[in-house]
Amino acid sequence: MNRVVEPEILDDLKPDDPRAIRARRDLQRINWWMGNARLIARSLQKTFTQRPPVRIVEIGTGDGTHLLRVAEKLPWASQPLELTLIDREPAIEKGTLEQYAKLGWHVQVIASDVFEWLKTNQPSDCIIANLFLHHFSEEQLRFIFSQAAAQTRCFIGCEPLRANRVFWTCRLMPLIGIGEVALNDAYISTRAGFCDQELSRLWPDNKEWILHEGVAGMGSHLFVAKKCE
Ligand SMILES: C[S@@+](CC[C@H](N)C(=O)[O-])C[C@H]1O[C@@H](n2cnc3c(N)ncnc32)[C@H](O)[C@@H]1O
Repeated sequence: MNRVVEPEILDDLKPDDPRAIRARRDLQRINWWMGNARLIARSLQKTFTQRPPVRIVEIGTGDGTHLLRVAEKLPWASQPLELTLIDREPAIEKGTLEQYAKLGWHVQVIASDVFEWLKTNQPSDCIIANLFLHHFSEEQLRFIFSQAAAQTRCFIGCEPLRANRVFWTCRLMPLIGIGEVALNDAYISTRAGFCDQELSRLWPDNKEWILHEGVAGMGSHLFVAKKCE
């Protein structure tokens, strides 16, 4: 099945549009079903075995709640951390920021196109992308990866798996109450998702990085790039 990248409805809705609010709530449930928070938390634990990261960046953060679900699964979540949340249209509620503050995480929300932000070259321990990379063409992904490789030492991407069985799962989504916008975007995301070693092939070709990529959880495709110490 060839990869096809098409615009998603949510990307064109203003954060306060009721359809966007509903779709973001649906996305939280889809993330839960896919087990993406668990997959990312596990990757973080496997990567940061000596000492926890002090600066994490999430690109395409949406409502910013997904990393809270990740934090709940991390043994070192109560350690102070600098978290930068980036989105073209951030939709982060005050309550979400309060929950990060309770953990002792210092959060900076940046409304920016990811391509512009990456050019500002901000060092971090880890860049995380959840249900985000599939928005982009191979050429755009090459740019994101080359910029990321120059400013972080770990990159984790958790994306839709492009496989027939995931399309079947999309068909079942109305049964768990997923609305029209998130359902439409789920089909589009799956067609734009990844399989095999598609993301590894786009990572800058050098020997400094250890790459892991493959099927994970319920319909996810996990990519982890770790810089050799
Ligand atoms: C499918 S949502 C995923 C949101 C979140 N990561 C989650 O799992 O709930 C994709 C997000 O990417 C953002 N986005 C799309 N293109 C972008 C770009 N070029 N730069 C920054 N954010 C972008 C959208 O605004 C949207 O919030």
